[in-house]
Amino acid sequence: MTRVMLCLVQATAPSWVEAALQNLDALLIDHAHCEIKAATNALSLASRATDRKMAEQLAALAEEEVQHFRQVLDELGRRGLRLGLPPADTYAAELRAIAHRTRSGGRSPRETLLDRFLIGALIEARSCERFRLLADALRERGEGKLADFYDELFTCEARHYRVLYDLAVDAIGSEELARERLAELAREEGALNARLGGEASVHG
Ligand SMILES: [Fe+2]
Ligand SMILES: [Fe+2]
Repeated sequence: MTRVMLCLVQATAPSWVEAALQNLDALLIDHAHCEIKAATNALSLASRATDRKMAEQLAALAEEEVQHFRQVLDELGRRGLRLGLPPADTYAAELRAIAHRTRSGGRSPRETLLDRFLIGALIEARSCERFRLLADALRERGEGKLADFYDELFTCEARHYRVLYDLAVDAIGSEELARERLAELAREEGALNARLGGEASVHG
């Protein structure tokens, strides 16, 4: 049973869970790369932080994402899998392209930072939704330990969504502007999600 959560406007299709379970190895390898990207993105945002508190929150987020990376890396090790090079990330690239396209008048530095936080928040929200689906499906298959791991990550992603959204509000200095822009980007993300959904990758 899929349901729409957080800021998302469209639920992931059941075909995604099937694809993920059919090729759990590929899913885990892609997941490891997602954690690397989440950590590097948090640090990249920290270098653009507008105050010390923002920088500290992003440093803490980066540390947590590195911890997740290590955990997924351990799982790859247990399964005898190699990390390899990062797979193409159509989802994140498309989200960035959408953010450009939907600001026809160009973006100020504050709006660029706002968009980066909101795209990060959307990615966390989608990961959160999919980790819930994955945890439930794994538990049904009797893979309790891996299900517990994805349960834990589901909770983290919901929290990360909130952290990044709150930072987006700080970046633009207006709850209303952040909320409106998130709604606009979430509609586009929903359409993107509807086009994807058949691959054994976290966002594919
Ligand atoms: Fe993570
Ligand atoms: Fe995260």
